[in-house]
Amino acid sequence: MSQVMDAILTRRSIRSYKPDMVPDELLDQIVEAGTYAATGMGAQSPIIAAVTNKNIRDRLSRMNAGIMGTGTDPFYGAPVVLVVLADRNRSTYLYDGSLVIGNMMLAAHDLGLGSCWIHRAKEEFDSPEGKALLKEWGIEGDYEGIGHCIVGYADGAEQAAKPRKSSYVYHVK
Ligand SMILES: Cc1cc2nc3c(=O)[nH]c(=O)nc-3n(C[C@H](O)[C@H](O)[C@H](O)COP(=O)(O)O)c2cc1C
Repeated sequence: MSQVMDAILTRRSIRSYKPDMVPDELLDQIVEAGTYAATGMGAQSPIIAAVTNKNIRDRLSRMNAGIMGTGTDPFYGAPVVLVVLADRNRSTYLYDGSLVIGNMMLAAHDLGLGSCWIHRAKEEFDSPEGKALLKEWGIEGDYEGIGHCIVGYADGAEQAAKPRKSSYVYHVK
């Protein structure tokens, strides 16, 4: 089996992390994998805000928890939050941003790190607080939050994948 195929089949969403920070050289590779995702017409509509600052990470966690209506950390203790946003003016922006997150989750897994897509980035960055954060980070433009790719060292064993549903694939020969 190729390494790519192995990574695709064995990646799982990780929901418990050690607090240890991910080294820059690994993070750079994950983010680079994101930037090489296919995008509609090659327009590269997404951007990635790579958050490693604990205060900002905790603030995003609180915002996300508030949207969800819980008091728990939606990032499961992960020290890194890769926020993917995409330019609403491109017709494929949602698909573009989703693929960036997919690439980054696979790259993280390939490097021995855990990851998980965490939702509610749209609500987070449509809010006045989210908009203010983007401004603070020097991000200007009509960007919509697509999702967060949390990254860190898994605390515990990965779960096995659920069996694939029998009606997943229709062979049209
Ligand atoms: C669009 C999308 C949103 C998701 N949002 C969350 C989320 O907010 N919190 C979470 O724990 N997992 C989230 N996930 C992860 C899924 O729950 C996970 O991919 C699914 O249970 C399958 O598990 P696997 O990734 O290990 O195959 C999301 C996944 C996708 C694709």
